[in-house]
Amino acid sequence: MPRAGIVRICLLLLVALTTWPGACRATHNITAILAGHRDLAEFSRQLTATGLADDIDGRNTITVLAVDDAHMATLKARGLPRETLRHVLSLHVLVDYYDDDKLHRLPGGSAVVSTLFQASGDAPGSEGMVKIAVRRGGRVAFVPQDVDDARATVFYVKSVHEAPYNISVLQVSSVITSPAAEAPSATESKPNATDATSRHGPHAGAYTAPSPAGQGSSSDINAAKQAGDGGDRGKKNGASGGGAPCGLPFALAFLMAAILVVNW
Ligand SMILES: *[C@@H]1O[C@H](CO)[C@@H](O)[C@H](O)[C@H]1NC(C)=O
Ligand SMILES: *[C@@H]1O[C@H](CO)[C@@H](O)[C@H](O)[C@H]1NC(C)=O
Ligand SMILES: *[C@@H]1O[C@H](CO)[C@@H](O)[C@H](O)[C@H]1NC(C)=O
Repeated sequence: MPRAGIVRICLLLLVALTTWPGACRATHNITAILAGHRDLAEFSRQLTATGLADDIDGRNTITVLAVDDAHMATLKARGLPRETLRHVLSLHVLVDYYDDDKLHRLPGGSAVVSTLFQASGDAPGSEGMVKIAVRRGGRVAFVPQDVDDARATVFYVKSVHEAPYNISVLQVSSVITSPAAEAPSATESKPNATDATSRHGPHAGAYTAPSPAGQGSSSDINAAKQAGDGGDRGKKNGASGGGAPCGLPFALAFLMAAILVVNW
């Protein structure tokens, strides 16, 4: 009887731990953060419409480069398909924390940062990376990696929200885009069978069963690519993927619970 009591308590603790929101989700809500900024309303709407808002809220150590309504209107007028729009907007989500202070203290005056476009696995090579560079006069520029076009450069305008080292929202002068982000989407022509997994890891393989931990695959690639960029100073706990896969603690907890039940 005492042994059963201990097992019961362990199980209760496990249930409490795994259902506690903090165990998985980050504490921020990008929609709520942007709600206080009326000129960023369209950007916020499109983050929600493309599903990126959920991705942002599910990650820690993240920087969102917000664009005002006037520039979003130009993007909207182009009538890009939803998946392409998602790629373009995911270039605006850096999977690292950069606030005003950090932008002006970049080692060597520049840094190459991975974005959610890179993390999605849809970006060819390193074309989902964004280079941050301090220009003459102190202006901070953002330009997609491998894009050699001055028109692709956008500039830092102001800091909108800072919660170190969880989430930072910085306003930039215009929409960041690249030929890779606007390329016809592979996921749109894929058979329906892979739809469920394509959002978080289209390169995970067609025969990989969807698992709670599957979300981690793309950020692992991303972490490996990011390892050499040297721009990770001041990063919380050195979490380079910008948020551990949510499914992992659940999978572990499930395993432990299963072992407990078997031993009971
Ligand atoms: C985030 O905030 C918005 C606006 O305040 C709200 O409608 C939405 O339900 C919130 N999302 C979550 C996941 O709490
Ligand atoms: C960052 O997130 C953690 C939980 O994930 C929270 O405890 C902490 O207060 C947050 N920091 C800020 C500045 O919001
Ligand atoms: C895929 O799903 C769409 C609806 O979501 C359907 O119209 C289409 O026929 C499906 N294609 C295949 C190959 O099953």
